[in-house]
Amino acid sequence: MANTTFAAIDVGTTKVCTVVGEVTPARELRILGVGVGPSAGISRGMVENIHAAIDAIASSIERAERASGARILSAYIGIAGPHISSMNSRGIVAIADPRNPITAGDVRRALESARIVNVPNNREVIHVIPRYYVVDGQDDVVDPVGMYGSRLDVETHVVTAGSSAMNNLVRCVEGAGVRVESVILAPLASAEAVVEPEEMEHGVALCDIGGGTTDIAVFVRGAVVHTAVLPVGGLHMTRDLVVALRIPQRAAEQVKREYGHTIPSLVDESDEVAVDSFGADGQRAVPRRMMAEVLQARTEELLEMVRAELRRGAQPEVLSAGVVLTGGAASLGGIELLAEDVLQLPARIGRPRQLAGLSDILHDPAYATAVGLLRWALREQEIMLRSSTPAAPLGGLIKRMAHLLRVVLPQ
Ligand SMILES: Nc1ncnc2c1ncn2[C@@H]1O[C@H](COP(=O)(O)OP(=O)(O)OP(=O)(O)O)[C@@H](O)[C@H]1O
Ligand SMILES: [Mg+2]
Repeated sequence: MANTTFAAIDVGTTKVCTVVGEVTPARELRILGVGVGPSAGISRGMVENIHAAIDAIASSIERAERASGARILSAYIGIAGPHISSMNSRGIVAIADPRNPITAGDVRRALESARIVNVPNNREVIHVIPRYYVVDGQDDVVDPVGMYGSRLDVETHVVTAGSSAMNNLVRCVEGAGVRVESVILAPLASAEAVVEPEEMEHGVALCDIGGGTTDIAVFVRGAVVHTAVLPVGGLHMTRDLVVALRIPQRAAEQVKREYGHTIPSLVDESDEVAVDSFGADGQRAVPRRMMAEVLQARTEELLEMVRAELRRGAQPEVLSAGVVLTGGAASLGGIELLAEDVLQLPARIGRPRQLAGLSDILHDPAYATAVGLLRWALREQEIMLRSSTPAAPLGGLIKRMAHLLRVVLPQ
């Protein structure tokens, strides 16, 4: 693929989505092709059957290749699952000669020192994201390069993943014939696609409700302060309908998507929908309000978990921009109203926007992670190009730096 062409693969619990895109001269993201197919062998964001997962990923890649006419050699992939954990960590370094300005090298040393956290052998650091810097006690420095001081602190958000869960995912993608360029935490990717920089500045929570996981990222003053992955999602809502209405899973999934609502009082009491029943016994009429009551109970429980998690990241008062709901289950009727009620924060649905090319299908909350991964790839590439000099090879170190620094560089 050409230099400016990128590929991203979102290996979800219910679907695998591969997107190929390029940057236009106007710095717009143009989608060249999308390949979506059902997922297999993945549960709660983690691989549980390698062969089934490889087949599902390979088929999504093949569709994207056919649609775009590009051969996908490498890709950015998203990761989620209960094995993810995150913490905030401070790195501190002394500046050798305070008469000289702070350099990118000093920043790198500070970040490396923040990275040296107590990580057990079976975990890997996937992100060290700078939140802000402190130069000789002066707080909230966004970019310390060029400033003078004798001590540089960096406050970072460190995300770690279980080594085996991550290796299994990478193996599956590589087994499908594509090299993994970078592994990105799914909610950070989703935020890239559906959260505005201004919202991040004023405090916002991103909540990606997928099939098997609900991924959270909290941003305050433009920087990520908390991330988490909860092992619940839309599949639980579907299963509740199976149990409560005694209908097959496929029928439950279909009525949920078409007629599902989370506020029973907004559903007409006399509304009924025809639903397939078990066996080949034709259809049954189910009151839509009863469906809404089932969906409300589960969604409310899920949102209570989100509320507890948000509290761990920030006080609700600092989230002036509220919460952005995305992921497939964000399409459930009335979910933003229920979220406003449970979380006591303004809520909106986040759909990927500002896309050119073959992007129709992607304007749906379910594709936030895939589009976000592509945007992440693009930014990393831009940072790499900016930080490279003709003498410097575009190799591992600069690449890693780009990964670490992307959040602090100006937009
Ligand atoms: N219109 C809709 N109404 C309600 N739920 C929906 C709708 N469309 C999709 N969903 C639900 O969204 C879920 C899938 O979301 P998404 O595609 O974001 O998940 P995923 O990325 O495959 O999984 P995960 O992120 O959990 O690994 C499914 O449970 C599906 O039922
Ligand atoms: Mg997902």
